[in-house]
Amino acid sequence: MKNKNQSNTASPDTLYSRLFARLYNPVMQGTEANHLLEKRATLLSRTRGKVLEVGIGTGVNFPLYPAEAEVLGIEPSAAMMAYARKRIQEQQGKAKITLMQAGIGDAQVAAAAPATGYDFIVTTLVLCTIPNLEATIRQFKDWLKPGGQLLVLEHIRDERQPHRWLQRSITPVWKHLAEGCHLDRPTDQLLKENGFHAIEEQYFRYWVTFYWAVLSWQ
Ligand SMILES: C[S@@+](CC[C@H](N)C(=O)[O-])C[C@H]1O[C@@H](n2cnc3c(N)ncnc32)[C@H](O)[C@@H]1O
Repeated sequence: MKNKNQSNTASPDTLYSRLFARLYNPVMQGTEANHLLEKRATLLSRTRGKVLEVGIGTGVNFPLYPAEAEVLGIEPSAAMMAYARKRIQEQQGKAKITLMQAGIGDAQVAAAAPATGYDFIVTTLVLCTIPNLEATIRQFKDWLKPGGQLLVLEHIRDERQPHRWLQRSITPVWKHLAEGCHLDRPTDQLLKENGFHAIEEQYFRYWVTFYWAVLSWQ
């Protein structure tokens, strides 16, 4: 059963989704090594206790979790999930990681939320893609325990021109090429307008502006 905050689980396992998953790590390799891996590491080193990682992709974050984290990783794409499973088999990380093939909006994800809530919810390069971000933010508030934290690493809408204009112009085509990714989403603003506040935040620029943040809503 799906609600209107629909996940991509409904998308069939197409040749294109397999190609996207196959190319994801090679295409991101340079950006990861030069910019993102270090940011991921500082974000994830904070995690402890029950952690939900949304949209794990190929599992880039897995080796970065400390032993104190017990992670449920969700991912709607079968092709991405295959790479994530392989990574767990091949790289012995410190944390216990359980995988579920499902996305935000799927009933089994809501059902898996611990009664006492998650200590952390992790989203890296995924809030650009989730179809109904406002509804997803509401879910995050329901699923986090009091004092729980939302950890975010995301590319966001650029405030510079002509970058902003370019992002808005490209996104209608780009979102089809990049499995739903919106280059022009002001995710930082949307999180704050919907009740989260930053405990720590950083903005940094590479070919787009990125947002790194530890957020809470209470
Ligand atoms: C750009 S990839 C990022 C993967 C990973 N988080 C990372 O940092 O490398 C975006 C991922 O979000 C997943 N995704 C899309 N819609 C989703 C949803 N509704 N719920 C959870 N994940 C979703 C996609 O399948 C894809 O694997």
